[in-house]
Amino acid sequence: MSARIPLQPFPRGWFQVATSDELSTGGPISLRCFGQDLVLFRTQDGQARVLDAHCPHMGAHLGVGGRVEQGGIRCPFHGWVISGEGKCVHIPYADTIPPRARIRAWEVRELDGLILVHHALGGEPPAFEIPPLAEARSTEWSPKLSKRWRVRTHIQENLENIVDPAHFVTVHGMLVPPRTEIEIEGHIIRSRSAVKQKGPGGQVVDGTITWEGHGMGYGTIRFTGIVELLFVNTVTPIDDELVDIRVAFWLRNDGAQRLGQALAAEVCRQIEEDIPIWENKIYRAQPVLCAGEKGIMTFRKWSSQFL
Ligand code: FES
Ligand SMILES: [Fe+2]
Repeated sequence: MSARIPLQPFPRGWFQVATSDELSTGGPISLRCFGQDLVLFRTQDGQARVLDAHCPHMGAHLGVGGRVEQGGIRCPFHGWVISGEGKCVHIPYADTIPPRARIRAWEVRELDGLILVHHALGGEPPAFEIPPLAEARSTEWSPKLSKRWRVRTHIQENLENIVDPAHFVTVHGMLVPPRTEIEIEGHIIRSRSAVKQKGPGGQVVDGTITWEGHGMGYGTIRFTGIVELLFVNTVTPIDDELVDIRVAFWLRNDGAQRLGQALAAEVCRQIEEDIPIWENKIYRAQPVLCAGEKGIMTFRKWSSQFL
């Protein structure tokens, strides 16, 4: 917990740790998230696996010099093989495997090009799943660019931005603040914002921005108006102070690709405009709010279930 943002930094839910592309060689990849060292690799049966990084034997880091083999990962130090379930299955110089020779295996899901792990402070099993993207199953949409930023903030501060109408005008140059309606359904938050966008010819176009968050780590944001655009927005806590923000854009395979790419670049530009605010602000538990800003407290009530 940082003094600037006194919120529990590691919520419960699903968090992106890599893309499927990053794991194309099978790994291992060393991960740092939730203040812990983890290792990601793909076993020969094609499953992405995440384990605590340090070998149960004498603590070597499996992601640094470890080799994926025999449905598990071979430790670089004394050659023990740890299975995808975190159990030692082979010791090159011993016939008996000590029962305590195991490490924690994390719940992993691979979905639409993203690798997600489940985190809960007490190690509880997942209480919800992330639904697949309809667009990823449609021939009319294709994945385009994706991007990542490492930012000194808390995941709640990052998401709160989406339901903070006034800042869209001051920070991002929107013509008027969006009108945002929020709906909560258990672990899901949906916000629908009516926005005025400036078209390529300078004309004003009515559009919508719809956010659907599944826990704090994973959300989709869909735009209509000048052009249709979808992006998956994930935020993953790294340690007490840092988060990784990732965006993965999907565009329609129609003639409006150029406009879609321009809007994707604009979304990235807006995230970069937010970063200096996030990195320097403090957290106000009782902010002084005005008319049109009550969505912020609705959002915080929703997010508190994960902290
Ligand atoms: S530390 Fe991993 S095999 Fe010894
Ligand atoms: Fe913003």
